[in-house]
Amino acid sequence: MFSEELLDAMNEQMKNEFLSAHLYLAMAGYFESEDLPGIASWMRVQALEELTHGEKFFNFICEAGGRTNLRGFDDPKNDYASPLDCFQYSLEHEKFVTASINKLMDMAKEQSNHAAQIFLQWFVTEQVEEESSFGLIVKKLERIADDGRGLLMVDSELGNRAFVATTTAE
Ligand code: FEO
Repeated sequence: MFSEELLDAMNEQMKNEFLSAHLYLAMAGYFESEDLPGIASWMRVQALEELTHGEKFFNFICEAGGRTNLRGFDDPKNDYASPLDCFQYSLEHEKFVTASINKLMDMAKEQSNHAAQIFLQWFVTEQVEEESSFGLIVKKLERIADDGRGLLMVDSELGNRAFVATTTAE
């Protein structure tokens, strides 16, 4: 079902998704330390979502008869100069994830791996959503600049995000 090259790239993307969960939980810790519990909660939810993304790769690799290969990664960045700095960093991280998903899709197409293409389509769409939601928060934080009341409003708004569990087979 997988060429060696595609299997390696799938396992590498699984690593990137779990790395994202690690990074966003580190960011949640930063926001907790800044007394912004709403934004911290938003980041915790994001971390949970990333775990499900990693699990989707795990499940697909197994179902398609490939061998999973769990990989480690370096410590995530734990400290940021400001909430805006943190969200700018996360937006750049999402752009990196988008680029690596797109490369995977290109490889699946070149190799005429139709099942992998259908599986990856979900991630292509998801990345549009991810970049859009991080980008929107970056814009809000740029707009409020040093207005403390504006930051508290963003904290309150982001605190409403709830984790919606999707079945891991999806
Ligand atoms: Fe699963 Fe935010 O990339």
